[in-house]
Amino acid sequence: MTAEPRAEIHVHLEGTASPLLAREMAARHGVDISGLVRGQTYGWQGFGGFLAAYDLIAALFRSEEDYRRLALDYLTRLSSDGALYCEIFISPDHAREAGLSPEAYLSGIESGVAEAQERTGIACRLIVVGVRHLGPAAVEGAARFAARSGHGLVTGFGLAGDERAHRPRDFARAFDMAREAGLGLTAHAGEFAGASAVAETLDALKVSRLGHGVRAIEDPALVRRLAQEGVTLEVCPGSNLSLGVYPSLEAHPLRALHEAGVRLTVNSDDPPFFGTDLAREYALARKAGFTAPERLALTRNAIEAAFVDEETRRRLL
Ligand code: ADE
Ligand code: ZN
Repeated sequence: MTAEPRAEIHVHLEGTASPLLAREMAARHGVDISGLVRGQTYGWQGFGGFLAAYDLIAALFRSEEDYRRLALDYLTRLSSDGALYCEIFISPDHAREAGLSPEAYLSGIESGVAEAQERTGIACRLIVVGVRHLGPAAVEGAARFAARSGHGLVTGFGLAGDERAHRPRDFARAFDMAREAGLGLTAHAGEFAGASAVAETLDALKVSRLGHGVRAIEDPALVRRLAQEGVTLEVCPGSNLSLGVYPSLEAHPLRALHEAGVRLTVNSDDPPFFGTDLAREYALARKAGFTAPERLALTRNAIEAAFVDEETRRRLL
């Protein structure tokens, strides 16, 4: 164990692809990604540009073996960053777009996770996400896939993509299906939409965690509700700075939310797209005033809010 044990519960599998691995895939498929790569990171502009770059990189991973490599590569790096536990968002819609069945996609990822766990000891679970800008029907399809895969490593269902598309309540059926299947629930909210979208997400989708959720700070009554109900926020400070949700760390509400009693975690979201990794996210928390015991509490919060069996949770805590 490192001096600072870490955990993250908000990272998108395709968003972890290093330029090194992406270049290898691109060369194999005869795709030129040189316009996108900037050293160890990717270049893009604005949230729309980010989503387009993300889709381009995701489309380079096309076989079960490609996804085994992707999961293994990320978890190996993450473990060397001091992480004990990780939950990864996986997107069957991105796999289908790349010509792979959701079943083959999941099977490749599960092999990579098992191999990483065996080599490094890191524990990992998977959260199937629907992509909200593909619309409610596609998200319900992702929920059906999650429900049938909900044994073993798939323990959660979530919602990612462009928050400005559709209302939270449009996805209530998908979340009802996933809840009935016994999956843990989380949704991106309060990143590109304000506090009212966070409140509607809690009311309509009945999630125990929120992806980002930081713009709840715009409504003090909602912040009190988050604290009272014990909702865990999957905060991604580096992502928020990179995407311009906040202009600076000083303007970021991480510390204010903590002081208001909201349960927080820090996460890397899409590390090479944002020039970050989990170690940097913890470093940002330190810069924002989190002491060593407070940073340890971020790790404990992640494990307490994890979609994992009680025996694994006890072992990690
Ligand atoms: N998919 C990957 N990263 C995302 C983010 N930061 N917000 C919404 N959808 C995403
Ligand atoms: Zn995210």
